[in-house]
Amino acid sequence: MTKVIPFVTKDGSSTLFSKHYNQYYHNPNGALAESQTVFIKRLNIDDYLKAHNGELMIFEMGFGTGLNFLLAAQAFLKSFSNLHNTGSTALHFYSVEAYPISTEIAATFEYPIDWQRDTMKEWFSKSMKGLKKGWNHYQPEKDLPIFLHLYWGNIQEITELKPFSQCINFYFHDPFSIQQNPECWTPGIFERYKKWGHPHAKLSTYAAATQIRAAMAVTGWQVYKATGALGKREMTIASLEELPNRVLQKQQLKTCDLQSLIKRWHAGEWIPYGN
Ligand SMILES: C[S@@+](CC[C@H](N)C(=O)[O-])C[C@H]1O[C@@H](n2cnc3c(N)ncnc32)[C@H](O)[C@@H]1O
Repeated sequence: MTKVIPFVTKDGSSTLFSKHYNQYYHNPNGALAESQTVFIKRLNIDDYLKAHNGELMIFEMGFGTGLNFLLAAQAFLKSFSNLHNTGSTALHFYSVEAYPISTEIAATFEYPIDWQRDTMKEWFSKSMKGLKKGWNHYQPEKDLPIFLHLYWGNIQEITELKPFSQCINFYFHDPFSIQQNPECWTPGIFERYKKWGHPHAKLSTYAAATQIRAAMAVTGWQVYKATGALGKREMTIASLEELPNRVLQKQQLKTCDLQSLIKRWHAGEWIPYGN
């Protein structure tokens, strides 16, 4: 457990300040607005749900306050009534957290979200109770195909995903910054993501540093610049497949120079941090 201080951001949504990492979990100008933009909007989750009849597998680095899970669940619930519910219509949300927050802290969270189901929020505030080390599997509502697979431990410990593998559609890469949390920005992490990913998998992160883009490029990801959230100039989207021009235009993505990133990485411009 690390020491965290609850904080209400400017859009009325909650976040935490971590004393250990000396950093907020979200942008203090709007936790909800930032997460909604960086992960749900920039990865076009709504369109994906429609096009794939609600078959969605997400892996998140850093469960933290659980906000990203709740936003993904909300996106799924919004489209659920319009889906043709087959056996494979489901949201599987994988997440990893080294320092889960307490039930007491979780109960203080406020999110100005139009909840489709109130019980989802109630369930969440209690979800940290009874968490055990390693994998924890939850289905918050018995009649809804929403599944949370939460790993309590360090991401470095995860070598395979259970109960599925090689199926992740989207990565929400949300650790602290590379300065505070360097072990989460290594080629070893992006290599794992490649192994667990569907061939069309995409990754989103709020970060835009050249070093993190180079770490993605050396492990075979296509890397793109996108407009950041809340006035931030840039963030990063990566994809296991090369995205066609029409997608780049529609989603306003700019291609990074992969050869240059790879060359700079191998020239030793950045000090590698283990694996
Ligand atoms: C920026 S916060 C995540 C915010 C979260 N996605 C949310 O919506 O609240 C980063 C999280 O990553 C966790 N973390 C940092 N390093 C980790 C590691 N090596 N393995 C697992 N979790 C880690 C931290 O404890 C923290 O909860």
